[in-house]
Amino acid sequence: MGIQFKQVGYAYQGIKTKYKALEDINLNIEGKNEFIAIVGHTGSGKSTLVQHMNALLLPTSGEMIVFDQKLPPKKKDKINHLRKKVGLVFQFPEYQLFEETIIKDIMFGPKNFKIYDEEAYNRSAEAAHTVGISDDLFEQSPFRISGGQMRRVAVAGILAMQPDILVLDEPTRGLDPKGKNDLMDIFVKLHEEKNQSVILITHDMDIVSKYAKRVVVIDHAKIVYDGKKEDLFTHPNFPNFHLDLPTPLKIMKHLEKTLGIPYQPFYDFDSLYQHLKGVKL
Ligand SMILES: Nc1ncnc2c1ncn2[C@@H]1O[C@H](COP(=O)(O)OP(=O)(O)OP(=O)(O)O)[C@@H](O)[C@H]1O
Ligand SMILES: [Mg+2]
Repeated sequence: MGIQFKQVGYAYQGIKTKYKALEDINLNIEGKNEFIAIVGHTGSGKSTLVQHMNALLLPTSGEMIVFDQKLPPKKKDKINHLRKKVGLVFQFPEYQLFEETIIKDIMFGPKNFKIYDEEAYNRSAEAAHTVGISDDLFEQSPFRISGGQMRRVAVAGILAMQPDILVLDEPTRGLDPKGKNDLMDIFVKLHEEKNQSVILITHDMDIVSKYAKRVVVIDHAKIVYDGKKEDLFTHPNFPNFHLDLPTPLKIMKHLEKTLGIPYQPFYDFDSLYQHLKGVKL
């Protein structure tokens, strides 16, 4: 069980015209063990796509099944529970913090789903610890911590709902390199220790290369690639996807051209470095 898109289309309704933001989307996402990066140039439809995953937007054509729930729903169906199953963290989620204290902000989601106070507190404290927010910060204002910490508090608010699938719209945007790595490490831990499915939108090909197992490329409202990360960069259509190569692959290509070091793909800097240490010139 997870998320299935079947020939899904979505059109934004303007005053006079409609704008097709998604066309003929077919996609299957498992409820466990996925680590998917969604990439594509600006305006291609990525955010529109992920907002379908927890029924924030409903298909205007085609059909979806999200944890047994058909979408668009029949009139009598209640679909609110899907927000708990699929936790969506928006772009710049820290702008949505609003409570007086950090712990109250994290507890907002669970409480909204009528989870009782003590249970809401326990879940929220656990989520806060997962993202590295310690107890001594709980009673502080969410507006008196750093931007990176605010982002973590916002992520914890979604984690406290214990979603089966975690969806993040550009979670590392605007963070410094350490902030990026720390946040990505949290998602990796959730994925590895709890088999949590993680889906994230990013423009950062180094993040795709280091972390993703599967990549979905969107171009002009359509999926043009859905497959393993390793196969993406050698795909014959890769030049048409308007994506950059990840830096470690660029370096290997450059070294082959300039120093004749045979090209081998490395997807992160550590493994590239380990390899180059052993190369004899
Ligand atoms: N509320 C809206 N009303 C009308 N058109 C919209 C609306 N939201 C998005 N669009 C249009 O739909 C298309 C897809 O938008 P979307 O936000 O899904 O793109 P994206 O791939 O997430 O882009 P980015 O990388 O810039 O975040 C864009 O052309 C955008 O202008
Ligand atoms: Mg977007």
